[in-house]
Amino acid sequence: MLEETVQPQTEHDPETKTWDAAVVGAGYVGVPLAHTLARAGRSVLLIDVAADVVTALNRGESHITDVPSTELAPLVEQGRIRATTEYNEIRNADAILIALPTPLSKQREPDLSIVTSAAEQIGIRLRNGHLVILESTTYPRTTREVVQPILERTGLKAGRDFHLAFSPERVDPGNKTWTTKNVPKVVGGITPACTERAADLYEGAVDTVHRVSTPEAAELTKLLENIFRSVNIALVNELAQLCERMGIDVWEVIEAASTKPFGFMSFQPGPGLGGHCIPIDPFYLTWKAREYDFYTEFIELAGKVNENMPYYCRSLVSQALNHGRQRSLSGSKVLVLGVAYKSDIADIRESPAIKLIELLLAAGAEIAYHDPFVPHLPEAGLSSVELDPAAYDCVVIVTAHSNIDYADLVARSHVVVDLRNATGPDGRRNDKVWTL
Ligand SMILES: NC(=O)c1ccc[n+]([C@@H]2O[C@H](COP(=O)([O-])OP(=O)(O)OC[C@H]3O[C@@H](n4cnc5c(N)ncnc54)[C@H](O)[C@@H]3O)[C@@H](O)[C@H]2O)c1
Repeated sequence: MLEETVQPQTEHDPETKTWDAAVVGAGYVGVPLAHTLARAGRSVLLIDVAADVVTALNRGESHITDVPSTELAPLVEQGRIRATTEYNEIRNADAILIALPTPLSKQREPDLSIVTSAAEQIGIRLRNGHLVILESTTYPRTTREVVQPILERTGLKAGRDFHLAFSPERVDPGNKTWTTKNVPKVVGGITPACTERAADLYEGAVDTVHRVSTPEAAELTKLLENIFRSVNIALVNELAQLCERMGIDVWEVIEAASTKPFGFMSFQPGPGLGGHCIPIDPFYLTWKAREYDFYTEFIELAGKVNENMPYYCRSLVSQALNHGRQRSLSGSKVLVLGVAYKSDIADIRESPAIKLIELLLAAGAEIAYHDPFVPHLPEAGLSSVELDPAAYDCVVIVTAHSNIDYADLVARSHVVVDLRNATGPDGRRNDKVWTL
């Protein structure tokens, strides 16, 4: 068997090995991954193109909230974690984990250019016995059809000379309960030996490793999880719009349905999808499916409903101003409360707040925002202002950070549009609060 010819380098060999793992990409995924491996006793090298990020990490300063500097600094001091901009050092690592961005192009097609350029850099330095694991979210067959051929340009063969696997990262930034350590790690290698070698690396560092038979199964697992969320969010977003028309409180319905102990999982409506994953990943599958003459209609429909939400929310703000303040949107002063894509984090990537602000500005509203986590919003050319709700015609709660006193906010506001049920049942009964 091909895979049996690969000799995993599990023993520490000072001649050839300095690092148990090199993690390429020191972002939301890479830093928690390095932290989790290092805490389990592994030595980890973080590679990133951003020199300022590398310098700060080497000072023990973390830019990722999930890994506080107080936890990173001792690991840096002990030499368990170091960061570099130099790809050359991966020669001295046993394993290379790729945790790089996989965005969509302007035409909403997969843009794998960052992963492929990193694979080229890795390929140049690839040696016998290396383990390479792709962790970036992507469509099924990327590991086999995109990464493997680049790495094999060296003449080395996956499964024979080096190990290759896919293992999706499932971290949920800001989630204190579920972390890189206790969310099970799904692993699928090009060969069974590749799967085992990758599983060995995670074993002991994460609580559970779940092996699948191929990289494709692992790639699609991650997409299924995100598509599941996208489709269910679209369902409640659609229901919220119907409920508004029928005069039914959608939040009350969701709360009631959630009392069913089986067969129902609660999803909340909102101003639209945000973050690096759910608005983007499903379209990786849509794109790949076309190659197989297949149309992923649930994904497209969910995308359509979810992408319409900022437009729907703009009309809610307009109605709230008409009825609650006898004003039109044009010329009204509107305070957007919360611009991060979800509560209690600073991440603004794909945040629906950005789209909503753009739509409100285009309708002639005067916009300011308050977000204790996001001091500046370059996308809108704005900076966070003091929370003084009485100074605005309307306050729109787009992201419900937990450190805001919502009852006090309602008391001090003229009109509130609550897109997150942050004001709860009291808000929903209050005449000056409009909810989704
Ligand atoms: N953020 C999440 O919540 C999350 C969760 C699960 C999976 N993912 C997936 O993980 C992958 C990484 O996402 P992320 O959120 O960590 O991205 P990120 O933007 O936080 O970090 C990526 C890092 O890679 C660096 N980088 C860019 N090009 C590089 C190159 N050529 N060589 C070395 N470094 C380079 C950037 O400077 C940045 O620090 C994506 O595929 C994403 O979909 C993200």
